[in-house]
Amino acid sequence: MTVQMQENVVRTNPPGEEKSTPLVQKMWSIGGGKGGTGKSFVTLSLGIRMARMGKKVVIIDADLGGANMHTLLGIRSPDLTLNDFLEKRAATLNQVCIGTPIDNLNLISGGDDILNLANPKYSQKERIIRNLKKLEADYIFLDLGAGTSFNILDFFIYTPGKIIVVSPFPTSVQNAYGFIKSALYRHLSRLFARNNEILRLIKRLIDPGSEERINSTVELIAAVDKLDTASAALMQKEVEAFQIKLIVNMAKSDENKKVGDIIKIVADKYLGVDVEVLKAIPFDALVEKSILLTKPLLFSDTGSEVSASLYEIASDILKA
Ligand SMILES: Nc1ncnc2c1ncn2[C@@H]1O[C@H](COP(=O)(O)OP(=O)(O)O)[C@@H](O)[C@H]1O
Ligand SMILES: [Mg+2]
Repeated sequence: MTVQMQENVVRTNPPGEEKSTPLVQKMWSIGGGKGGTGKSFVTLSLGIRMARMGKKVVIIDADLGGANMHTLLGIRSPDLTLNDFLEKRAATLNQVCIGTPIDNLNLISGGDDILNLANPKYSQKERIIRNLKKLEADYIFLDLGAGTSFNILDFFIYTPGKIIVVSPFPTSVQNAYGFIKSALYRHLSRLFARNNEILRLIKRLIDPGSEERINSTVELIAAVDKLDTASAALMQKEVEAFQIKLIVNMAKSDENKKVGDIIKIVADKYLGVDVEVLKAIPFDALVEKSILLTKPLLFSDTGSEVSASLYEIASDILKA
């Protein structure tokens, strides 16, 4: 836990204010591999909750190609979007931050510029990542898109806080596990990018066709240890720091809520990754209705089970 807590805090000083109190940001990605599990809904709800507690919050709609956060907030056509930053009309992410109807909550919109944004170049993605820590905010939430493309995984890997939103359907559970696995091995592959021997071992783990299969992270670290003890120790440390918080959304029964525990057990056994299962969010038609009415406050104002769950989840995130 200590590792996670320390890494969750990124300290930066705004230019020219080197001596001021460091800006403390907490960055969280919300991903999960599959579309429609409620990632955007959860991101927005957490953002609203933190904002109402007086925290300065920025939500980044990083669902490049399927951006809809502005719509959820009732903003028809954002004046500035991430595209302005990517095409260098704006120099910093701070400049493309727009206000929302909710105090303390700002948005960096993905905009509607779908063709331009869907596949940003590697350099563009790296520019976003480099700029993230200069954002003036207490909390930054990145709402990720579906799939396991490198663009999505790299955002997830970068932010110290990692949240997975899963729905109880088997495909969603499979995708969530696949997402965690892809993110972890992408992270390790990048970390050891210059070490061909270790890269070959990682490949034996992720490539089902390889003859001498490595079956789990534990086996991988043992194999690395035979090559180089220091690298094995580093890998072990990185895997331990790769902690995930998981939310089962749209649960219709107690049975549904248990899918979180299944992912936790499998991720521990094969990936060595610690998954903390947070409070499940029940299915409630009110969520859909509030989204259709673009009245996001509805779900934090009602005394429903959904808002109770969201409160509990937000307190866990605040404590992290
Ligand atoms: N707990 C819930 N109960 C009922 N409907 C929900 C719930 N969470 C999300 N939804 C609905 O599911 C749809 C997809 O949610 P969204 O947040 O856009 O998913 P994602 O961002 O993962 O693609 C939305 O129409 C939303 O209203
Ligand atoms: Mg979404």
